Amino acid sequence: MRDLITSRNMPWSALKVAATLLCLVFWGIACNADQQSGGEAMPATQTIQLPEPSLSGPVSLEEALTRRRSVRGFSDHPVTLTEIGQLLWAAQGVTEHGRGLRTAPSAGATYPLEIIVIVGRAEGLAPGAYRYAPGRHDLIPVLQDDQRQSLARAALNQSALLQAPVTFAVTAVHARTEARYGRRATRYVDMEAGHAAQNLSLQAVAQGLGSVVIGAFNDRDVSALLDLPPGESPLYLIPVGKPR
Ligand SMILES: Cc1cc2nc3c(=O)[nH]c(=O)nc-3n(C[C@H](O)[C@H](O)[C@H](O)COP(=O)(O)O)c2cc1C
Repeated sequence: MRDLITSRNMPWSALKVAATLLCLVFWGIACNADQQSGGEAMPATQTIQLPEPSLSGPVSLEEALTRRRSVRGFSDHPVTLTEIGQLLWAAQGVTEHGRGLRTAPSAGATYPLEIIVIVGRAEGLAPGAYRYAPGRHDLIPVLQDDQRQSLARAALNQSALLQAPVTFAVTAVHARTEARYGRRATRYVDMEAGHAAQNLSLQAVAQGLGSVVIGAFNDRDVSALLDLPPGESPLYLIPVGKPR
């Protein structure tokens, strides 16, 4: 450093320091780009910011409605972090930040639904399970490692859950809606899960992906696998991937 200030080689030393700093900056940008674009899988330990969702696309709503069919066979193709973010946004993303209103309607805006994505093969996201935080549009890791075999076992060994690179679990905290609507909340929460699942299914079609909504599973096994807290129950499992 003294050399840098005092010697006649100052321009060289300054250049070396500048080059080192430049490398560090580029390295930082490269790491960040990897995280954003799905280059290297991130460990399932830190909160993961999802890319901003796209608000327009080439597939019309009518086309998506026409093309949606239950898909149960998937290729090995991984999904990307961007695709996962877009699907989560379609299901429960915040579209009016002032009041926290979302893509899917909610009885009294009580928002009882949660979404957990179980990742087997994704670009930019390590295998594991992650809880979606709609307000921040990010993912909070809840489980490490590929959980697809256990998930399929908890759902009558349905092969779609084994093959799909990712599965979205729609869960509900009924108490949020019961606080306002009492016993009627049961039906409201179920209706809401339907809205969210349909949004996700149509978004999948628009992205060239396939999905199927799965209701046949053992509630207790799925709750245990996903480590759901008391008062939260699973309603739907939605495997998504490139149709085989
Ligand atoms: C509440 C509900 C539960 C379902 N559960 C399952 C399931 O456990 N496994 C499955 O393969 N499909 C399941 N499905 C998908 C239906 O089998 C499918 O929607 C139906 O055969 C019509 O075909 P389509 O979705 O291609 O129009 C379920 C659908 C609904 C609405």
